[in-house]
Amino acid sequence: MATPHIAAEPGDFAPAVLMPGDPGRARRIAETLLTRPRLVTDVRGMLGFTGTVDGKRLSVMGSGMGQPSLTIYATELFDQFGVERIIRVGTAGGISERVSVGDVVIATGAHTDSSMNQLRIPGIGFCAVADFHMAEAAYREAVAAGIVERTHIGTIISRDHFYLTPEGQTERLAAYGTLCVEMEAAALYGTAAEYGRRALAVLNVSDHLLDHSGDMSAVDRQTRFQDALRLATAAAFC
Ligand code: HPA
Repeated sequence: MATPHIAAEPGDFAPAVLMPGDPGRARRIAETLLTRPRLVTDVRGMLGFTGTVDGKRLSVMGSGMGQPSLTIYATELFDQFGVERIIRVGTAGGISERVSVGDVVIATGAHTDSSMNQLRIPGIGFCAVADFHMAEAAYREAVAAGIVERTHIGTIISRDHFYLTPEGQTERLAAYGTLCVEMEAAALYGTAAEYGRRALAVLNVSDHLLDHSGDMSAVDRQTRFQDALRLATAAAFC
């Protein structure tokens, strides 16, 4: 039973899906985290795998970049493949001065400049929030992993533009306590709300928009990404 963007059979996906933006990263996560990963879809190169972690089924699938792309995959996974939980794992640019490169952010809510959630309930500024229990499970894992000092919990911004930012906007967002910027979480939370399912984004800060002193090498990004992945995996099974 293929959907327009996912060529898989019913039951191919686990109830929980880890969702990085990059399909190459989905493959690397599947190969390192999952026992006996099996490729279940590769339409347009957007790879999806299912395997197990400690005997429990888990899937990993790329979302592509941006809210429209993620929304296509999340919608089909929730609507057609019985997926219950999607956990975005990705990188983000720091905004708050409290956040440093290498830190982890558990995104409990996501502002957005995108129209995707504005279209959901006409006249309403949609409130894009994570599942509380998954956020709590990720936080508990940060405590267990001894990384709670560099783990932040709070609001982020999901922007449509990577390169175009209205002057002063980032500073205003920082003044409102916004932790970091990425490009997908708000739409994920909106899509989960639409289907009555659960979602969370756990992000690794790879650079800082207002302080460039500590930008990361590609190797460091990959190493530190493991922290976010550990927290996301804990959330997947809660
Ligand atoms: N925007 C700006 N900087 C970033 C992002 C983003 O979406 N992701 C990682 N660094």
